[in-house]
Amino acid sequence: MTGNTASAQGLSSEDYNAFRSFLEDASGIVLGDNKHYLVTSRLTRLMKEQGIESFGVLMQHIKRDSKLRHRIMDAMTTNETSWFRDNYPFDILKEQLLPEFAKKQARQVRIWSAASSTGQEAYSLSMIVSEYLQKRPGSLPANGVQILGTDISPTVLEQARSGIYEGVAASRGLSEERKRRFFIQTETGWQVKDEIRKRVSFRELNLMQGYGALGKFDIIYCRNVLIYFSAELKRDILARMARTLNPGGFLVLGGSESISSYSEDFELVRWRNGVIYKLV
Ligand SMILES: C[S@@+](CC[C@H](N)C(=O)[O-])C[C@H]1O[C@@H](n2cnc3c(N)ncnc32)[C@H](O)[C@@H]1O
Repeated sequence: MTGNTASAQGLSSEDYNAFRSFLEDASGIVLGDNKHYLVTSRLTRLMKEQGIESFGVLMQHIKRDSKLRHRIMDAMTTNETSWFRDNYPFDILKEQLLPEFAKKQARQVRIWSAASSTGQEAYSLSMIVSEYLQKRPGSLPANGVQILGTDISPTVLEQARSGIYEGVAASRGLSEERKRRFFIQTETGWQVKDEIRKRVSFRELNLMQGYGALGKFDIIYCRNVLIYFSAELKRDILARMARTLNPGGFLVLGGSESISSYSEDFELVRWRNGVIYKLV
């Protein structure tokens, strides 16, 4: 559908541009020139539910209603994720990174799943840690690995904290063996077992804001979120992530993302058919 059709549904160019600016200022997400349809399709239900009859009125409400701003952010963010998404980032953790920290006799390994969505990435990392420790008991200190998941959306974080998944979300990317081993079936869905949940926590964080309160990390997974941001914001986020890593720490990006010209703080580490980044 074109911008014109969407504007016939009530989204004028002026309102679209005002909404675009609001979204980029609030979340960093950049909308192209012709995403009128995306905006109308994602916000129409919310507007109906709130009794807001036009985008002009919505823009007025946005200014003074923080709950509405959160709801809009929820509607506009893409939260798609799955268990062990792309496999590679999890294989490299098990086969390269954890052995490296074990060899260094690290007393602690802190991993940050930045933009964790509903938690599958953070819990998958924890499952890898359990599998690694089962094969090499004592190679890392008990309770020595901590995983923090953060996201801008309170709604996805609520599900992440519950650790309960149903339908497709309870199976996409998950082998039967891992499902049996790491989940229990409850009345409301499949719940991640305490063994996995105990090393994972979640908190709300907008990547545009400061990371100081999170402490330092050894590995950052920042996957499938930088693609939504401007080049300037990518540079800024990567610079601040570099300062949030301990010396020799690692950064793992999504399959379609790369550091390219955005940062000189990292060197490329090639492994099998992919790459990750190491702080220089
Ligand atoms: C596509 S999901 C990626 C989930 C997971 N990392 C993965 O690769 O499967 C993108 C997530 O980024 C979050 N997000 C978008 N803008 C953000 C921001 N400014 N700060 C923090 N999280 C943000 C969204 O809420 C969404 O949950």
